[in-house]
Amino acid sequence: MTSEPMTALHAAELDAAASALDASDPLRGFRDRFVGAESALVYFDGNSLGRPPKATAARLATFVEQEWGGRLIRGWDESWMELPFAIGDEIGRVAIGAAAGQTVIADSTTVLLYKTLRAAFEAQRADDPARVEIVVDRDNFPTDRYLVEGIARETGGTVRWIEVPRDGGVEPETLRAAVGPATAVVLLSHVAYRSGHLADAETLTRIARDAGALTVWDLCHSAGSVPVHADDWGFDLAVGCTYKYLNGGPGSPAFVYVAERHQAALTQPVQGWMGAADVFSMGPQYAPAAGMRRFLSGTPPIVGMLVMQDTLGMLAEAGIAAVREKSLALTSFAERVSDALLAPLGVTVASPRDRERRGGHVTLSHPAMRKVTADLWEQDVIPDYRDPDGLRIGLSPLSTSFAETLAGMRAVEASVRRHAI
Ligand SMILES: Cc1ncc(COP(=O)(O)O)c(C=O)c1O
Repeated sequence: MTSEPMTALHAAELDAAASALDASDPLRGFRDRFVGAESALVYFDGNSLGRPPKATAARLATFVEQEWGGRLIRGWDESWMELPFAIGDEIGRVAIGAAAGQTVIADSTTVLLYKTLRAAFEAQRADDPARVEIVVDRDNFPTDRYLVEGIARETGGTVRWIEVPRDGGVEPETLRAAVGPATAVVLLSHVAYRSGHLADAETLTRIARDAGALTVWDLCHSAGSVPVHADDWGFDLAVGCTYKYLNGGPGSPAFVYVAERHQAALTQPVQGWMGAADVFSMGPQYAPAAGMRRFLSGTPPIVGMLVMQDTLGMLAEAGIAAVREKSLALTSFAERVSDALLAPLGVTVASPRDRERRGGHVTLSHPAMRKVTADLWEQDVIPDYRDPDGLRIGLSPLSTSFAETLAGMRAVEASVRRHAI
């Protein structure tokens, strides 16, 4: 497809819009608190791996020298045993709307999804043997789909698939048609990893509950960028990553939320010593601890959970409502630039246009996007690519500026022009 390059007037208008948005952004000061913000690199992948906070280097050095180096194994009694619960409560408070005692840091997202799905499935089937189905959508993240298939195989359950459009996600009417007396558990992503579709989590949870099902929410793409009100929305269980919008670092451990009303009735399948009623009695048989401890299995990954505290501090300072406002302003701006620069080249927006239904990233579709992504990475412009033809523009609200967004979108335009034949 051919088209004229943008006129100078358009270019000046976009520059002026980016400058005005940066100047009036109440959160603009946070960007400088991240490593690398001063460089010209454009980072569009904070929805996969957030930038490191600058405070982190000192936090890690202090931990090595004073806590680990100074206290050695005494650190477990003095603070580390409680750290997964303390940080979990802080995630609950600042990011997911959960009262204390319902959120804990433990394993990877994948392992925690397995533990929660199995626990919920077994409890439901024990209550009512007719409940054998796990409901999940076909465009959910691979780990979510694979786990559901594995659990169905292990337990003799069945999977009920929901079809969703590539540029959307699960809607109330689609879920309503899929749940019923056979449903044990529903697994949903709050923000769809491909399209960025933001599910109406409160309504979907209610639909599942009215059908007698429990819901497990995957909050990977929402925790830290989209307000979540786990308690007020009546969530049953939820799991989320900490290395995306919570900037915990590569492979930082995930969190799990279990509503207090369910905790005593759920037992998860990885029965390790850290989840036992009395960790140090080392008794002959496993008995699950009360409360959230029963969702732990082995030694908590303390080093991996240090860094996210810096972002939780920033989120508490900014407030998740302001973070969401900035996120919406960033994604709306990216869409506007895409309409001006990329639509004439045949690029389409494969994310919800309705801002109320959009999470923190925008996906742009074009057959050349795989090549475009590789090209952009060479130039220090870093989005990511998702099949079949999607370029994901992830706009982490605390660390991304409007000028950075515009510079990156211009690089996308130039690259699409080079690769679109
Ligand atoms: C939506 C979603 N769910 C689950 C996962 C899996 O997380 P982990 O690799 O930490 O187990 C990811 C990872 O990116 C994800 O984006």
